Parts: sequence; C-alpha cells; structure tokens
Amino acid sequence: MSVKTKVAIIGAGPSGLLLGQLLHKQGIENVVLERVTPDYVLGRIRAGVLETGFARLMREAGIGDRMDTEGEVHDGVEIVVNDRRHRIDLKGLTGGNTVIVYGQTELTRDLMEARTRSKQRTYYEVSNVQPQDALTNKPYVTFEHDGARHRLDCDYIAGCDGFHGVSRKSIPDDCITEHEKLYPGGWLGLLSETPPVNPELVYIKHARGFALCSLRSQTRSRYYLQVGKDDVVEAWSDERFWDELKRRLPEELSAKLVTGPSIEKSIAPMRSFVAEPMQYGNLFLLGDAAHIVPPTGAKGLNTAGGDVHVLYKILSLVYGEGRTDLLEKYSDICLRRVWNGQRFSWWMSNMLHDFKDTSAFELNLHTSDIEYHLQSDAGRKVIAEQYVGLPFEKIE
Ligand code: FAD
Ligand code: DHB
Repeated sequence: MSVKTKVAIIGAGPSGLLLGQLLHKQGIENVVLERVTPDYVLGRIRAGVLETGFARLMREAGIGDRMDTEGEVHDGVEIVVNDRRHRIDLKGLTGGNTVIVYGQTELTRDLMEARTRSKQRTYYEVSNVQPQDALTNKPYVTFEHDGARHRLDCDYIAGCDGFHGVSRKSIPDDCITEHEKLYPGGWLGLLSETPPVNPELVYIKHARGFALCSLRSQTRSRYYLQVGKDDVVEAWSDERFWDELKRRLPEELSAKLVTGPSIEKSIAPMRSFVAEPMQYGNLFLLGDAAHIVPPTGAKGLNTAGGDVHVLYKILSLVYGEGRTDLLEKYSDICLRRVWNGQRFSWWMSNMLHDFKDTSAFELNLHTSDIEYHLQSDAGRKVIAEQYVGLPFEKIE
C-alpha cells in the first residue's frame, strides 16, 4: 500500500512524538512509524529532569498542562563531595531559571494522548523500516505493518529512532563521522514508591562510586548507583542496592533514607557519542539517533529537545514562507548545542565518578576541579547555567 505525507517520522520516543505534535500545531501533516507497542515505549524508565527550554517547547506544543500541575519545579540541586553537601541555587545563579522534575514516561504519555487527539497517523509495531532516496526531492520510507508491505512518500524524513535505529545506519559510511567514548561503568537505577531522601536532587561523589538521589514526586523516588561496566541487574537484590546506597550517602541523608521494594531496576551504559553531520539530504537525525551522553547532568532528553526545536522551526519556515535556505544549516545549528551538552555531561561524569581506568593523579585533579567549582561563586554559576540548559538558538 502507498501512503503520502509531508514529514515521515521514524520512532515514537520523545523526539518523534514531540516533533510530530509541534508540526501538527503548524498544520504540517506527518506520519509516525514505531517498531514496538505504545505500552513498551511507556515501560522504559528513563530521564526525569526537564530544562527550562524543553518545558517551554512542551507548552508551545500545547501539552504542558499536566507537566505544569504535576511536575515539580526545582530551584536548586545538591552536589556532595567528601561528605560535604553543596547546594547550587539554580534560580538565583541563572537569573530565575529552574528545572522541572517530570518523568519521561509521563511526558511520553502526554505526547501519545495529544497524538491520538490530533488524528495524525501513527503505525505501531512496524518492521523493516528503510529510508529511501534521501538525496532526492522525492524521498520515501518503506516498511511492513500487519503483514503487508507499505511505501510512505514524503518531502522530508525525520530519523527519531534512537541509538539502535535504522536512520543513522542508512547513511553511507563515507558521508557520516561517528565519535564515541565508552566509560568503564554503568548506572544501576531503582524506582520505588518511597518518599525521596531529600526534596531536591543530590549528586554524590564517593570513593565507592557515584550515587544520585532523584525523584519523580514526593512519594516516588529514583536512585542510581555507579556499577561496573559488566555488572548485571540480577546481581543486585533490593537489599544490596539500599545497603550500598546508604554507604555512599552523607550520614544525615543515610539516616533519613526510607527504603522499600523496587518497582523497576535497570542498568544504563555510560557512553558519549556524536554522529556528524546530523543530516543526509532530506533525512534529518534527531535525539539519540544522532548523539548519546552519559546520564550525569540529565542532558540526553534535553539535547534531543534542542534538535526537535531546530527542525520544527526550519520546517515551519519551509511550509509557511517557502524558505528552504535553512534546511542545509540544520546539522550545524544542532551540533553547536549538542557538543555543549556533550562537554557538560563528560565533565560532570569525570568529576563525580571514580572510574577504574583513571590514574590517582587524575582523580586528585578531578576532586580539586569540582571542589573549586563548588566553592567559587563563578564556578557554581557555570554549573547552574549548564544544568538549567543553554537557550535555544533563534532560527530565522
Ligand atoms: P528514544 O527514546 O530511544 O526513542 C526512539 C524510538 O524509536 C523508540 O521508541 C524505538 O522503539 C524506536 N525505533 C527504534 N528503531 C526503530 C526502527 N527501526 N523503526 C521504527 N522505530 C524504531 N536521559 C536523561 O536525561 N536522564 C536519564 O536518566 C536517562 N536514562 C536513560 C536510560 C537508558 C537505558 C537509555 C537508553 C537512555 C536514557 N536517557 C536518559 C536518555 C534519554 O532517555 C534519551 O535521550 C531520550 O529517550 C531520547 O529520545 P529519542 O526519542 O531521541 O530516542
Ligand atoms: C535523573 C537522571 C539523570 O541522569 C539525572 O542527571 C538526573 C535525574 C532521573 O532519572 O531522575
């Protein structure tokens, strides 16, 4: 069967769904193709912290209401080094900017509901998706759904299909450069129906390894522990997790920690990755399809939001004013913000983790570096400014 649309979007993660909704608001028809079921997408527990700019984009897409009522605005965040707690006053140091704690699951649910209301077409459980003829002005995507072969003709293809997706892989090797750094460690996350140990997030540098106390609400906590690169979830009973977390927390937090059964437990790898350019003719890469950060600093989802903002603005100008000159600038505009997010995530990861391959000399430098930043007004400002997120570039 043959279908036609303006923008074919591969992947119904946050990048694909948010782009689809923003384009819909501009009257730009689009079709989303997703490999798995909606429930499977919603079952993935991932990011929790939204930057000011990402939250603004959700509102611009007309889906900020639940985020604004149920999400928690955080004015500050804590970093612990040598058992000393340092608060970064995000709001005070950035002239009023904050972050919103609102889980990726909730945000994706809002996006899925908006998509159903928008009546834009979505095909879940598709297979053999393949972008075709991206260098021509008649690109198309082939895929299988319900046992039938389909062809989706379009003007543009948005590759929002994550790190393991097909979009980036469809670009010939000599037209794309991939930069990658793997860290010798991972993050073991645990979600529990327990009150968070602290009202704000706490990032902890500890000789036994990094830990993070995060939350989804004042009754639901999300905790992370740095574990070995080859560690497996099965080796971590809830009891072992809580015991290890207590050992890494400063005493006053350890004494307050409320434990309970886990709702979810998983290990995320730590990887820095950038593919450039993020474009191949009329195929555009967005979010994890083009770049990955280690989770320290919560930049993954937020950097994806930056790409969505750029493509949505460019396509609005293409369809609204016939301005096609910006299309070729997509990758350069995105990469400026992407590399900044990469640098911050890499820096935060190195400052706060105790990786096996780091020399004692470097470890001492890291401690000195983070302590300098935490003790100086200018240093705290540098962290705050990046944590709340740099502003989106104006597209005009
Ligand atoms: P994804 O969310 O990966 O969505 C891509 C979608 O494309 C998926 O639904 C996938 O099923 C679909 N797809 C894949 N291949 C195909 C195909 N061939 N055809 C059709 N559809 C396809 N970020 C943070 O900021 N904080 C965190 O704590 C954090 N934790 C994470 C934990 C894990 C295990 C992972 C993998 C990521 C984590 N991230 C975190 C990163 C953050 O979740 C991502 O940056 C964000 O999900 C990116 O959204 P996306 O839509 O670009 O990609
Ligand atoms: C969460 C994840 C992060 O990577 C981070 O830096 C902060 C919070 C979270 O899942 O809550």
